Amino acid sequence: MNDAAVLRPGKLPEFLPVAKAVIPAAGLGTRFLPATKVQPKEMLPIIDTPTIQFVVQEVVDAGITDILIITGKGKRSIEDHFDRSWELEEALAKNGHADLLQQMRDISNMANIHYIRQKEFVGLGDAIYYSKQHVAGEPFAVLLGDTIVDTPGVTATRQLMDFYQVWRCPVIAVEEVPRDKVSRYGVIQGKQIDDRTYIVEDLIEKPTPEEAPSTLAIGGRYVLTPSIFEFIERTPKGKGGEIQITDALRMLCKQERLYAYRFDGKRHDIGNRLDYMKSSVEFAIRRKDIGEEFREFILELAETLRKEASS
Ligand code: UTP
Repeated sequence: MNDAAVLRPGKLPEFLPVAKAVIPAAGLGTRFLPATKVQPKEMLPIIDTPTIQFVVQEVVDAGITDILIITGKGKRSIEDHFDRSWELEEALAKNGHADLLQQMRDISNMANIHYIRQKEFVGLGDAIYYSKQHVAGEPFAVLLGDTIVDTPGVTATRQLMDFYQVWRCPVIAVEEVPRDKVSRYGVIQGKQIDDRTYIVEDLIEKPTPEEAPSTLAIGGRYVLTPSIFEFIERTPKGKGGEIQITDALRMLCKQERLYAYRFDGKRHDIGNRLDYMKSSVEFAIRRKDIGEEFREFILELAETLRKEASS
């Protein structure tokens, strides 16, 4: 072989930015029965807006317009929500509700949304695996369809995308949670490299407070690379008999660099009754139309409760 041929540089792998998002929304929503018996939990509204609409908005605000939603049995209303509703539009136009009509049209024009159905409810890892063909070798963002992340500025997804742009490795959003709440989440063990960034060394799905290696919980947002699919293929059923994405990431972090990024913002887990109520109150207080009156109501209620407690 001649030396010139040996020394010629190879083609550097092309860096692809994150241009696709996957929203798993097929889960059973057992924690929210009976409301989720026939209605997807991702359609539970915060005041008047379905949870999944906040999630799609987060993707759009991050600059992504190609979205794959993983749906399943009983999730048709998600597709209907992002579709045009001709009868409704006609009625709104006829009755002079121009603002509402525009709002309804905007929802159906938010993004280019694709759907695929998860055939068995065997976990988040399995749900994400359904996106393999759609992401077609590109890095992609994952946003849980039942989780709203409220950020003061840049969306959580955009924060992860910006991180990925620099570090070019998969990254998961994490947030600090009280130790007595860790058993609700996947928790990381990591080596801190700056104020917000950790190299992930291990992950545990829903640990007990004693087992938890930290109080940094996975926050329902990820930027992943296609190598995740190989790890999901090798992931056996774990906690709850489900194929857990946390278990697949656990394998991945032993062989590849995986980062955790403590995002700026707050996670609202809508699939959990208490968080759902707290989030609804927080959002209602901040609403321009009803916020002021609602805040007064909450203050009156708090006063009454205080009096009751002290009597
Ligand atoms: P959860 O972990 O909250 O699971 O899902 P779940 O099964 O929906 O809820 P419970 O525990 O029965 O109440 C987090 C996100 O992942 C999706 C859910 O729809 C939710 O948006 N998911 C979960 C799937 O798409 N498929 C699954 O098999 C599990």
